[in-house]
Amino acid sequence: MPGMNYRQFYIETHGCQMNEHDTEKIRGLLLQYGFLPASGMEDADLILLNTCSVREKASHKVFSRLGELRILKKGKPGLVIGVAGCVAQQEGKRILKKAPHVDFVVGTHQYHSIPDILDGLSLADRAGVPPKEPSGRIRTAFAKGPSPAEIKEIERGTPYRANITIMEGCNKKCSYCIVPYTRGREMNRPADIILADVREAVDQGYSEIQLLGQTVTSYHDPTEETFSFLSLLREVSNESRIRRIRFVSPHPINFTDELISLIAERENICNQVHLPLQSGSDKILRKMRRLHSREWYLDLIGKFRDNGRHIALSTDIITGFPGESDQDFEETLEVVREARFEQMFSFKYSVRPYTEASEWEDSVPEEIKSERLARLQELQKNIQIEEHRKLYAGKVFEVLVEGRSRDGKLASGRTTTNKVVNFESEEPPGAYVKVKIEKTSPNSLYGREIITSMVQPEWS
Ligand code: SAH
Ligand code: SF4
Ligand code: F3S
Repeated sequence: MPGMNYRQFYIETHGCQMNEHDTEKIRGLLLQYGFLPASGMEDADLILLNTCSVREKASHKVFSRLGELRILKKGKPGLVIGVAGCVAQQEGKRILKKAPHVDFVVGTHQYHSIPDILDGLSLADRAGVPPKEPSGRIRTAFAKGPSPAEIKEIERGTPYRANITIMEGCNKKCSYCIVPYTRGREMNRPADIILADVREAVDQGYSEIQLLGQTVTSYHDPTEETFSFLSLLREVSNESRIRRIRFVSPHPINFTDELISLIAERENICNQVHLPLQSGSDKILRKMRRLHSREWYLDLIGKFRDNGRHIALSTDIITGFPGESDQDFEETLEVVREARFEQMFSFKYSVRPYTEASEWEDSVPEEIKSERLARLQELQKNIQIEEHRKLYAGKVFEVLVEGRSRDGKLASGRTTTNKVVNFESEEPPGAYVKVKIEKTSPNSLYGREIITSMVQPEWS
Protein backbone atom coordinates (compact mmCIF):
# COMPACT_ATOMS: atom_id res chain seq x y z
CA MET A 1 0.00 0.00 0.00
CA PRO A 2 1.25 3.47 -0.76
CA GLY A 3 1.89 5.72 2.21
CA MET A 4 0.37 8.97 3.36
CA ASN A 5 1.79 10.97 0.52
CA TYR A 6 -0.01 8.66 -1.91
CA ARG A 7 -2.17 11.15 -3.71
CA GLN A 8 -0.17 13.75 -5.54
CA PHE A 9 -1.01 15.03 -8.98
CA TYR A 10 0.91 16.61 -11.81
CA ILE A 11 -0.74 18.23 -14.84
CA GLU A 12 1.22 18.99 -17.99
CA THR A 13 -0.55 21.54 -20.17
CA HIS A 14 -0.10 22.12 -23.91
CA GLY A 15 -1.99 24.42 -26.26
CA CYS A 16 -3.92 27.65 -25.82
CA GLN A 17 -5.10 29.76 -22.90
CA MET A 18 -8.34 27.80 -22.80
CA ASN A 19 -6.34 24.67 -21.97
CA GLU A 20 -4.37 26.58 -19.34
CA HIS A 21 -7.63 27.68 -17.81
CA ASP A 22 -9.13 24.18 -17.97
CA THR A 23 -6.06 22.99 -16.09
CA GLU A 24 -6.85 25.49 -13.32
CA LYS A 25 -10.32 23.97 -13.11
CA ILE A 26 -9.13 20.35 -13.14
CA ARG A 27 -6.62 21.30 -10.49
CA GLY A 28 -9.52 22.50 -8.33
CA LEU A 29 -11.37 19.20 -8.79
CA LEU A 30 -8.29 17.20 -7.83
CA LEU A 31 -7.63 19.32 -4.74
CA GLN A 32 -11.24 18.78 -3.70
CA TYR A 33 -10.84 15.08 -4.31
CA GLY A 34 -8.04 15.03 -1.77
CA PHE A 35 -5.01 15.13 -4.02
CA LEU A 36 -2.07 17.45 -3.39
CA PRO A 37 0.01 19.10 -6.09
CA ALA A 38 3.29 17.25 -6.73
CA SER A 39 6.44 19.31 -7.05
CA GLY A 40 7.48 17.37 -10.15
CA MET A 41 6.31 14.61 -12.42
CA GLU A 42 8.49 12.01 -10.67
CA ASP A 43 6.68 12.55 -7.34
CA ALA A 44 3.19 12.27 -8.82
CA ASP A 45 0.75 9.40 -8.35
CA LEU A 46 -1.54 10.84 -10.98
CA ILE A 47 -0.19 12.42 -14.16
CA LEU A 48 -2.59 14.17 -16.49
CA LEU A 49 -1.65 15.44 -19.94
CA ASN A 50 -3.87 18.30 -21.07
CA THR A 51 -3.31 18.16 -24.81
CA CYS A 52 -3.58 20.24 -27.99
CA SER A 53 -4.20 18.97 -31.51
CA VAL A 54 -4.26 22.18 -33.52
CA ARG A 55 -1.25 21.06 -35.56
CA GLU A 56 0.03 17.57 -36.22
CA LYS A 57 3.26 18.24 -34.34
CA ALA A 58 1.39 19.14 -31.16
CA SER A 59 -0.65 16.00 -31.40
CA HIS A 60 2.43 13.79 -32.07
CA LYS A 61 4.05 15.22 -28.98
CA VAL A 62 1.32 13.59 -26.89
CA PHE A 63 2.20 10.13 -28.15
CA SER A 64 5.92 10.61 -27.56
CA ARG A 65 5.18 11.92 -24.06
CA LEU A 66 2.99 8.89 -23.41
CA GLY A 67 5.91 6.69 -24.47
CA GLU A 68 8.07 8.30 -21.79
CA LEU A 69 5.33 7.86 -19.22
CA ARG A 70 5.09 4.17 -20.03
CA ILE A 71 8.68 3.80 -18.88
CA LEU A 72 7.99 5.83 -15.76
CA LYS A 73 5.00 3.65 -14.97
CA LYS A 74 7.03 0.43 -15.32
CA GLY A 75 9.04 1.53 -12.30
CA LYS A 76 5.92 2.73 -10.48
CA PRO A 77 3.00 0.38 -11.21
CA GLY A 78 0.41 2.32 -9.13
CA LEU A 79 0.88 5.44 -11.24
CA VAL A 80 -2.37 6.68 -12.77
CA ILE A 81 -2.11 8.31 -16.20
CA GLY A 82 -4.88 10.37 -17.75
CA VAL A 83 -5.20 12.29 -21.00
CA ALA A 84 -7.43 15.38 -21.30
CA GLY A 85 -7.82 18.16 -23.86
CA CYS A 86 -8.24 18.28 -27.60
CA VAL A 87 -6.26 15.14 -28.52
CA ALA A 88 -8.32 13.21 -25.95
CA GLN A 89 -11.49 14.57 -27.53
CA GLN A 90 -10.32 13.86 -31.05
CA GLU A 91 -8.87 10.40 -30.70
CA GLY A 92 -9.63 9.02 -27.27
CA LYS A 93 -10.17 5.48 -28.48
CA ARG A 94 -6.89 5.42 -30.37
CA ILE A 95 -5.00 6.63 -27.32
CA LEU A 96 -6.37 3.78 -25.21
CA LYS A 97 -5.56 1.28 -27.93
CA LYS A 98 -2.06 2.52 -28.65
CA ALA A 99 -1.19 3.25 -25.03
CA PRO A 100 -2.73 0.62 -22.74
CA HIS A 101 -0.90 2.14 -19.77
CA VAL A 102 -3.26 5.14 -19.99
CA ASP A 103 -5.90 4.72 -17.29
CA PHE A 104 -8.41 7.21 -18.59
CA VAL A 105 -9.18 9.66 -21.35
CA VAL A 106 -11.38 12.67 -20.68
CA GLY A 107 -12.65 14.99 -23.43
CA THR A 108 -13.02 18.76 -23.37
CA HIS A 109 -16.65 18.75 -22.18
CA GLN A 110 -16.30 16.05 -19.52
CA TYR A 111 -14.03 17.48 -16.87
CA HIS A 112 -16.82 17.53 -14.32
CA SER A 113 -16.77 13.71 -14.45
CA ILE A 114 -13.12 13.43 -13.32
CA PRO A 115 -14.04 12.64 -9.66
CA ASP A 116 -16.37 9.96 -10.94
CA ILE A 117 -13.66 8.48 -13.14
CA LEU A 118 -11.24 8.45 -10.21
CA ASP A 119 -13.87 6.70 -8.09
CA GLY A 120 -14.15 4.10 -10.82
CA LEU A 121 -10.43 3.50 -10.77
CA SER A 122 -10.68 2.78 -6.99
CA LEU A 123 -7.31 4.34 -6.43
CA ALA A 124 -7.17 3.48 -2.75
CA ASP A 125 -6.64 -0.21 -3.29
CA ARG A 126 -4.88 -0.25 -6.60
CA ALA A 127 -1.39 -1.49 -7.09
CA GLY A 128 -0.86 -1.54 -10.78
CA VAL A 129 -3.99 -3.54 -11.58
CA PRO A 130 -5.82 -2.13 -14.60
CA PRO A 131 -9.29 -0.78 -13.83
CA LYS A 132 -12.06 -3.37 -13.77
CA GLU A 133 -14.48 -1.49 -15.96
CA PRO A 134 -12.95 -0.55 -19.28
CA SER A 135 -16.05 1.53 -20.05
CA GLY A 136 -15.02 3.93 -17.31
CA ARG A 137 -11.80 4.69 -19.15
CA ILE A 138 -13.15 7.05 -21.77
CA ARG A 139 -15.41 10.07 -21.46
CA THR A 140 -15.56 12.27 -24.50
CA ALA A 141 -19.25 12.96 -25.15
CA PHE A 142 -20.25 16.59 -25.69
CA ALA A 143 -22.55 16.24 -22.71
CA LYS A 144 -25.45 18.52 -21.97
CA GLY A 145 -24.24 18.59 -18.35
CA PRO A 146 -22.18 21.34 -16.77
CA SER A 147 -19.64 22.80 -19.16
CA PRO A 148 -16.02 23.11 -18.02
CA ALA A 149 -16.65 26.83 -17.57
CA GLU A 150 -19.07 26.09 -14.72
CA ILE A 151 -16.46 24.17 -12.71
CA LYS A 152 -15.21 26.49 -10.01
CA GLU A 153 -11.46 26.86 -9.80
CA ILE A 154 -10.26 26.52 -6.18
CA GLU A 155 -7.24 28.66 -6.85
CA ARG A 156 -6.10 30.43 -9.97
CA GLY A 157 -2.80 29.45 -11.53
CA THR A 158 -1.68 33.07 -11.80
CA PRO A 159 -1.63 35.67 -9.02
CA TYR A 160 -1.70 38.54 -11.51
CA ARG A 161 -4.43 37.59 -13.99
CA ALA A 162 -7.89 36.06 -13.67
CA ASN A 163 -9.02 34.09 -16.71
CA ILE A 164 -12.78 34.01 -17.12
CA THR A 165 -14.48 31.93 -19.82
CA ILE A 166 -17.26 33.76 -21.63
CA MET A 167 -17.90 31.23 -24.38
CA GLU A 168 -16.53 27.96 -25.71
CA GLY A 169 -16.47 26.24 -29.06
CA CYS A 170 -16.66 27.69 -32.55
CA ASN A 171 -19.38 27.89 -35.19
CA LYS A 172 -17.02 29.11 -37.89
CA LYS A 173 -15.69 26.62 -40.34
CA CYS A 174 -12.19 27.66 -41.32
CA SER A 175 -11.24 24.85 -43.66
CA TYR A 176 -7.89 24.05 -41.98
CA CYS A 177 -9.02 24.10 -38.35
CA ILE A 178 -9.80 21.19 -36.05
CA VAL A 179 -10.97 23.35 -33.13
CA PRO A 180 -14.72 23.24 -34.00
CA TYR A 181 -14.38 19.46 -33.90
CA THR A 182 -12.47 19.25 -30.59
CA ARG A 183 -14.39 21.98 -28.76
CA GLY A 184 -17.81 21.65 -30.32
CA ARG A 185 -20.26 24.33 -31.29
CA GLU A 186 -20.46 27.73 -29.64
CA MET A 187 -21.73 27.72 -26.11
CA ASN A 188 -22.20 31.13 -24.54
CA ARG A 189 -22.35 31.63 -20.78
CA PRO A 190 -25.08 33.87 -19.34
CA ALA A 191 -23.80 37.42 -18.89
CA ASP A 192 -24.95 37.68 -15.26
CA ILE A 193 -22.87 34.62 -14.35
CA ILE A 194 -19.82 35.99 -16.18
CA LEU A 195 -20.19 39.36 -14.46
CA ALA A 196 -20.55 37.67 -11.06
CA ASP A 197 -17.31 35.76 -11.78
CA VAL A 198 -15.62 39.03 -12.73
CA ARG A 199 -16.75 40.71 -9.49
CA GLU A 200 -15.58 37.75 -7.46
CA ALA A 201 -12.12 37.84 -9.08
CA VAL A 202 -11.92 41.58 -8.43
CA ASP A 203 -12.95 41.05 -4.79
CA GLN A 204 -10.12 38.54 -4.52
CA GLY A 205 -7.73 41.29 -5.59
CA TYR A 206 -7.30 40.59 -9.29
CA SER A 207 -6.89 43.74 -11.35
CA GLU A 208 -6.29 42.06 -14.72
CA ILE A 209 -9.17 40.11 -16.23
CA GLN A 210 -8.80 38.03 -19.37
CA LEU A 211 -12.02 37.02 -21.12
CA LEU A 212 -11.62 33.65 -22.81
CA GLY A 213 -13.24 31.78 -25.65
CA GLN A 214 -12.44 30.22 -29.04
CA THR A 215 -14.14 33.15 -30.82
CA VAL A 216 -14.85 35.64 -28.01
CA THR A 217 -16.09 38.35 -30.34
CA SER A 218 -19.09 36.30 -31.47
CA TYR A 219 -20.33 36.18 -27.87
CA HIS A 220 -23.96 36.94 -27.10
CA ASP A 221 -26.00 36.25 -24.01
CA PRO A 222 -27.87 32.95 -24.53
CA THR A 223 -31.24 34.44 -23.61
CA GLU A 224 -30.78 37.97 -24.91
CA GLU A 225 -29.35 37.91 -28.43
CA THR A 226 -28.78 41.69 -28.44
CA PHE A 227 -26.45 41.53 -25.45
CA SER A 228 -23.29 41.09 -27.51
CA PHE A 229 -19.55 41.00 -26.90
CA LEU A 230 -19.66 44.79 -27.12
CA SER A 231 -22.23 44.95 -24.30
CA LEU A 232 -20.27 42.50 -22.18
CA LEU A 233 -16.96 44.28 -22.67
CA ARG A 234 -18.61 47.58 -21.77
CA GLU A 235 -20.08 46.08 -18.58
CA VAL A 236 -16.78 44.55 -17.52
CA SER A 237 -14.99 47.79 -18.25
CA ASN A 238 -17.51 49.69 -16.06
CA GLU A 239 -16.04 47.90 -13.03
CA SER A 240 -13.67 50.64 -11.96
CA ARG A 241 -11.42 48.40 -9.87
CA ILE A 242 -10.23 46.59 -13.01
CA ARG A 243 -7.04 48.02 -14.43
CA ARG A 244 -6.54 45.73 -17.39
CA ILE A 245 -8.99 43.79 -19.55
CA ARG A 246 -7.79 41.40 -22.23
CA PHE A 247 -9.72 39.02 -24.48
CA VAL A 248 -8.64 35.99 -26.57
CA SER A 249 -9.26 34.87 -29.28
CA PRO A 250 -11.22 37.38 -31.31
CA HIS A 251 -12.14 36.96 -34.99
CA PRO A 252 -11.46 40.00 -37.22
CA ILE A 253 -14.88 39.77 -38.84
CA ASN A 254 -16.66 40.71 -35.61
CA PHE A 255 -14.94 44.08 -35.06
CA THR A 256 -17.69 46.63 -35.58
CA ASP A 257 -17.05 50.37 -35.48
CA GLU A 258 -18.70 50.50 -32.04
CA LEU A 259 -16.37 47.82 -30.68
CA ILE A 260 -13.31 49.61 -32.05
CA SER A 261 -14.53 52.89 -30.48
CA LEU A 262 -15.12 51.24 -27.12
CA ILE A 263 -11.57 49.85 -27.11
CA ALA A 264 -10.26 53.29 -28.04
CA GLU A 265 -12.26 55.05 -25.30
CA ARG A 266 -11.80 52.80 -22.32
CA GLU A 267 -8.46 53.03 -20.56
CA ASN A 268 -8.90 49.76 -18.73
CA ILE A 269 -9.35 47.78 -21.94
CA CYS A 270 -5.80 46.91 -22.96
CA ASN A 271 -4.56 48.64 -26.09
CA GLN A 272 -3.68 45.35 -27.71
CA VAL A 273 -5.83 43.44 -30.17
CA HIS A 274 -5.19 40.11 -31.87
CA LEU A 275 -6.39 40.03 -35.48
CA PRO A 276 -5.63 36.61 -37.00
CA LEU A 277 -4.96 37.27 -40.69
CA GLN A 278 -3.90 33.73 -41.81
CA SER A 279 -3.11 34.85 -45.38
CA GLY A 280 -2.86 38.04 -47.40
CA SER A 281 -4.20 36.50 -50.61
CA ASP A 282 -7.91 36.69 -51.39
CA LYS A 283 -7.75 33.39 -53.23
CA ILE A 284 -6.32 31.62 -50.18
CA LEU A 285 -8.56 33.46 -47.72
CA ARG A 286 -11.56 32.23 -49.68
CA LYS A 287 -10.30 28.67 -49.64
CA MET A 288 -9.64 29.02 -45.93
CA ARG A 289 -13.25 30.21 -45.46
CA ARG A 290 -11.91 33.05 -43.38
CA LEU A 291 -14.84 35.43 -44.09
CA HIS A 292 -12.60 38.47 -44.56
CA SER A 293 -10.84 39.70 -47.69
CA ARG A 294 -7.45 41.36 -47.90
CA GLU A 295 -8.93 44.78 -48.53
CA TRP A 296 -11.49 44.48 -45.76
CA TYR A 297 -8.75 43.44 -43.35
CA LEU A 298 -6.51 46.35 -44.31
CA ASP A 299 -9.47 48.70 -43.83
CA LEU A 300 -9.98 47.25 -40.37
CA ILE A 301 -6.35 47.91 -39.52
CA GLY A 302 -6.82 51.47 -40.77
CA LYS A 303 -9.74 51.90 -38.38
CA PHE A 304 -7.61 50.77 -35.45
CA ARG A 305 -4.86 53.18 -36.50
CA ASP A 306 -7.21 56.16 -36.85
CA ASN A 307 -9.08 55.89 -33.60
CA GLY A 308 -6.93 58.17 -31.49
CA ARG A 309 -5.37 55.56 -29.22
CA HIS A 310 -2.31 53.48 -30.01
CA ILE A 311 -3.43 49.86 -30.33
CA ALA A 312 -0.75 47.17 -30.61
CA LEU A 313 -1.92 44.68 -33.21
CA SER A 314 -0.87 41.05 -33.35
CA THR A 315 -1.73 38.27 -35.78
CA ASP A 316 -1.56 34.59 -36.79
CA ILE A 317 -0.38 33.46 -40.22
CA ILE A 318 -0.23 30.08 -41.93
CA THR A 319 2.28 29.39 -44.72
CA GLY A 320 1.87 26.72 -47.38
CA PHE A 321 -1.90 26.29 -47.33
CA PRO A 322 -3.04 24.03 -50.22
CA GLY A 323 -2.76 25.95 -53.48
CA GLU A 324 -0.66 28.81 -52.07
CA SER A 325 1.50 30.05 -54.94
CA ASP A 326 4.58 32.28 -54.73
CA GLN A 327 2.33 35.17 -55.72
CA ASP A 328 -0.17 34.37 -52.92
CA PHE A 329 2.67 34.27 -50.43
CA GLU A 330 4.05 37.59 -51.71
CA GLU A 331 0.62 39.07 -51.03
CA THR A 332 0.85 37.86 -47.44
CA LEU A 333 4.24 39.56 -47.09
CA GLU A 334 2.74 42.76 -48.52
CA VAL A 335 -0.03 42.84 -45.93
CA VAL A 336 2.50 42.15 -43.17
CA ARG A 337 4.68 45.02 -44.41
CA GLU A 338 1.71 47.32 -44.44
CA ALA A 339 0.15 46.26 -41.14
CA ARG A 340 3.34 46.46 -39.05
CA PHE A 341 2.11 44.05 -36.40
CA GLU A 342 3.84 44.21 -33.03
CA GLN A 343 3.64 40.45 -32.64
CA MET A 344 3.02 37.48 -34.90
CA PHE A 345 2.43 33.76 -34.44
CA SER A 346 3.22 31.91 -37.64
CA PHE A 347 2.88 28.28 -38.59
CA LYS A 348 3.40 25.89 -41.46
CA TYR A 349 0.12 24.48 -42.68
CA SER A 350 -0.57 21.11 -41.14
CA VAL A 351 -3.29 18.73 -42.36
CA ARG A 352 -5.83 18.03 -39.64
CA PRO A 353 -8.35 15.20 -39.68
CA TYR A 354 -12.07 16.04 -39.99
CA THR A 355 -11.33 19.39 -41.65
CA GLU A 356 -12.51 20.39 -45.10
CA ALA A 357 -8.94 21.07 -46.27
CA SER A 358 -7.87 17.54 -45.34
CA GLU A 359 -9.74 16.42 -48.45
CA TRP A 360 -7.50 18.53 -50.66
CA GLU A 361 -4.00 17.73 -51.72
CA ASP A 362 -1.41 19.15 -49.29
CA SER A 363 0.17 20.63 -52.38
CA VAL A 364 2.93 22.89 -51.07
CA PRO A 365 6.13 20.89 -50.44
CA GLU A 366 7.50 20.92 -46.91
CA GLU A 367 10.68 22.79 -47.90
CA ILE A 368 8.65 25.56 -49.46
CA LYS A 369 6.40 25.82 -46.41
CA SER A 370 9.54 26.14 -44.26
CA GLU A 371 11.24 28.58 -46.60
CA ARG A 372 8.16 30.82 -46.65
CA LEU A 373 7.83 30.61 -42.88
CA ALA A 374 11.48 31.64 -42.47
CA ARG A 375 11.06 34.61 -44.87
CA LEU A 376 7.91 35.70 -43.08
CA GLN A 377 9.55 35.46 -39.68
CA GLU A 378 12.62 37.36 -40.86
CA LEU A 379 10.42 40.17 -42.18
CA GLN A 380 8.42 40.29 -38.96
CA LYS A 381 11.58 40.28 -36.84
CA ASN A 382 12.83 43.38 -38.64
CA ILE A 383 9.45 45.06 -38.21
CA GLN A 384 9.51 44.32 -34.48
CA ILE A 385 13.08 45.63 -34.15
CA GLU A 386 11.99 48.91 -35.77
CA GLU A 387 8.63 49.23 -34.04
CA HIS A 388 10.06 48.47 -30.61
CA ARG A 389 12.73 51.09 -31.05
CA LYS A 390 10.27 53.67 -32.32
CA LEU A 391 7.42 53.01 -29.90
CA TYR A 392 9.16 51.99 -26.70
CA ALA A 393 12.83 53.05 -26.41
CA GLY A 394 13.39 55.77 -23.82
CA LYS A 395 9.74 55.94 -22.77
CA VAL A 396 8.06 55.01 -19.50
CA PHE A 397 5.39 52.32 -19.25
CA GLU A 398 3.30 50.71 -16.59
CA VAL A 399 4.34 47.05 -16.21
CA LEU A 400 2.34 44.41 -14.38
CA VAL A 401 4.83 42.00 -12.81
CA GLU A 402 4.18 38.35 -13.70
CA GLY A 403 7.28 36.64 -12.29
CA ARG A 404 11.02 36.42 -12.88
CA SER A 405 13.01 36.40 -16.10
CA ARG A 406 14.23 33.00 -17.30
CA ASP A 407 17.54 33.19 -15.44
CA GLY A 408 15.71 34.42 -12.33
CA LYS A 409 17.81 37.58 -12.07
CA LEU A 410 15.25 40.13 -13.23
CA ALA A 411 11.58 40.84 -12.63
CA SER A 412 9.44 40.16 -15.70
CA GLY A 413 6.08 41.60 -16.60
CA ARG A 414 3.98 43.05 -19.39
CA THR A 415 2.89 46.41 -20.68
CA THR A 416 -0.77 46.96 -21.56
CA THR A 417 0.34 46.30 -25.16
CA ASN A 418 1.43 42.81 -24.06
CA LYS A 419 5.17 43.44 -24.42
CA VAL A 420 7.39 41.45 -22.11
CA VAL A 421 9.59 43.80 -20.06
CA ASN A 422 12.49 42.60 -17.91
CA PHE A 423 13.96 44.90 -15.27
CA GLU A 424 15.80 44.87 -11.97
CA SER A 425 13.30 44.77 -9.15
CA GLU A 426 12.13 42.67 -6.24
CA GLU A 427 8.45 43.48 -6.80
CA PRO A 428 6.20 40.38 -6.56
CA PRO A 429 3.79 39.11 -9.23
CA GLY A 430 0.70 41.30 -9.30
CA ALA A 431 2.57 44.58 -8.61
CA TYR A 432 2.35 47.52 -11.02
CA VAL A 433 5.65 49.26 -11.65
CA LYS A 434 6.67 52.18 -13.85
CA VAL A 435 9.57 51.17 -16.04
CA LYS A 436 11.72 53.26 -18.35
CA ILE A 437 12.71 51.26 -21.41
CA GLU A 438 16.46 51.34 -21.94
CA LYS A 439 16.99 48.53 -24.44
CA THR A 440 14.76 46.89 -27.01
CA SER A 441 15.11 43.56 -28.80
CA PRO A 442 12.84 41.87 -31.37
CA ASN A 443 10.92 39.95 -28.72
CA SER A 444 11.21 41.82 -25.46
CA LEU A 445 12.18 45.04 -23.75
CA TYR A 446 14.61 45.80 -20.94
CA GLY A 447 14.22 48.72 -18.59
CA ARG A 448 14.80 50.43 -15.26
CA GLU A 449 12.23 50.78 -12.52
CA ILE A 450 11.25 54.39 -11.93
CA ILE A 451 11.05 54.82 -8.18
CA THR A 452 9.29 58.17 -8.06
CA SER A 453 6.22 57.25 -10.04
CA MET A 454 5.47 60.78 -11.19
CA VAL A 455 5.67 60.06 -14.88
CA GLN A 456 2.47 59.01 -16.55
CA PRO A 457 2.68 55.99 -18.83
CA GLU A 458 2.61 57.00 -22.44
CA TRP A 459 -0.58 55.28 -23.54
CA SER A 460 -2.86 54.84 -20.56
N1 SAH B 1 -9.69 30.40 -32.18
C1 SAH B 1 -8.56 31.02 -32.65
C2 SAH B 1 -7.51 30.16 -33.23
C3 SAH B 1 -7.24 28.86 -32.75
S1 SAH B 1 -5.91 28.08 -33.48
C4 SAH B 1 -8.89 31.98 -33.75
O1 SAH B 1 -9.82 31.82 -34.48
O2 SAH B 1 -8.12 32.90 -33.88
C5 SAH B 1 -4.61 29.26 -33.41
C6 SAH B 1 -3.92 29.43 -34.71
O3 SAH B 1 -3.37 28.22 -35.15
C7 SAH B 1 -4.81 29.85 -35.85
O4 SAH B 1 -5.09 31.22 -35.85
C8 SAH B 1 -4.02 29.42 -37.05
O5 SAH B 1 -3.12 30.41 -37.46
C9 SAH B 1 -3.24 28.23 -36.54
N2 SAH B 1 -3.75 26.98 -37.09
C10 SAH B 1 -4.98 26.44 -36.92
N3 SAH B 1 -5.09 25.30 -37.64
C11 SAH B 1 -3.91 25.12 -38.27
C12 SAH B 1 -3.42 24.15 -39.19
N4 SAH B 1 -4.17 23.12 -39.59
N5 SAH B 1 -2.14 24.28 -39.64
C13 SAH B 1 -1.37 25.31 -39.25
N6 SAH B 1 -1.80 26.27 -38.42
C14 SAH B 1 -3.05 26.19 -37.93
FE1 SF4 C 1 -10.59 27.62 -35.93
FE2 SF4 C 1 -11.52 29.45 -37.53
FE3 SF4 C 1 -12.92 28.79 -35.36
FE4 SF4 C 1 -10.65 30.13 -35.10
S1 SF4 C 1 -12.51 30.87 -36.12
S2 SF4 C 1 -11.28 28.33 -33.91
S3 SF4 C 1 -9.39 29.33 -36.76
S4 SF4 C 1 -12.50 27.48 -37.12
FE1 F3S D 1 -5.10 23.42 -29.11
FE2 F3S D 1 -7.52 22.76 -28.43
FE3 F3S D 1 -6.62 25.13 -27.81
S1 F3S D 1 -6.54 22.24 -30.33
S2 F3S D 1 -5.22 25.55 -29.48
S3 F3S D 1 -5.84 23.22 -27.05
S4 F3S D 1 -8.69 24.62 -28.42
